[in-house]
Order: sequence, then structure tokens, then C-alpha cells
Amino acid sequence: MIDKSIILPLASDHGGFAMKAFLIKKLQEEGFTVKDYGTFSEESVDYPDFIHPLAKAIDDGVFPFGIIMCGSGNGAQITANKYAGVRAGLCWSVEQAELIRLHNNANIISIPGRFVDFEIAWKMVKVFLNTKFEGGRHQNRVEKISKTL
Ligand code: RB5
Repeated sequence: MIDKSIILPLASDHGGFAMKAFLIKKLQEEGFTVKDYGTFSEESVDYPDFIHPLAKAIDDGVFPFGIIMCGSGNGAQITANKYAGVRAGLCWSVEQAELIRLHNNANIISIPGRFVDFEIAWKMVKVFLNTKFEGGRHQNRVEKISKTL
């Protein structure tokens, strides 16, 4: 079980706002402290404005893990992965949430706020937080990710 004294940052646009509010409530009930990077309403916004600050904080080593959402999960994930120290995985099932930790050592989970049931999203977050990187054959693969040609 992950150490609940870590602070968990969350960020979304309007497409992920309702899911973010749901996950924050669940995380707080579970005993986690969260840092909410916004957005703070359903009003239409540009997802990079909210994802960049969280992703930079992960890249800077301020937080070990982050949780991001937009409508599809794609814009949020693409933005976060611009940072060298970020490995953000797009997930829509519990199995994928486990695999991005086991195989990819992901430090951010990106969830499609408009396409995933909220209770499934909560299960995904718990699995993401409680699964350790497998290492082994995946270590080399993960190290090669940043070695662009
Ligand atoms: C917003 O309508 C939507 O485009 C955004 O949430 C996201 O799905 C983009 O990738």
C-alpha cells in the first residue's frame, strides 16, 4: 500500500472537472492530501493551461505521481509527455492502470473524463498508486523512451 503521506496532484480541463472532483473526494476519504491544479468549474478552458503546471512539478520532482483528465484523456496525456521526466499513460481500464506501472513505470495516469465510469476511474487510481514497476526487461525499454533519434 502506498504511503498516504504523499501529496497527490490532480489537474483537468472542463471535460475532466466532474471526475476530478469525484476522485479528490475519494482520495481525501482514503486519507490522502491532494493538490488541485484546476480547472475549478465546467466552464470551457484550454487543457494545457492546467496540465503544464502539474507536469512541470512532476518533472521537477515535487510529487512522485500525478492524476490528470480531459474529455478524452488524450490532450492531457500528450501535454504531460512533453516533459522529459514524465511518463503519462492513457488508461480506460483497471488492467491498463496496472500495466502502465508494471511495464512503463508511469508517473502520471491520464483518464478520459467523458468515457470512463467514475467508480472504474477510482479503481484505476488505486491500482495505479499501489502497483510497483516490474523492472527487469522493462528497465531498458523505459530508458530508451527518451533516446530520440
Ligand atoms: C474539450 O472539449 C476536449 O477537447 C478536451 O477535454 C480533450 O478531450 C482534448 O483532448
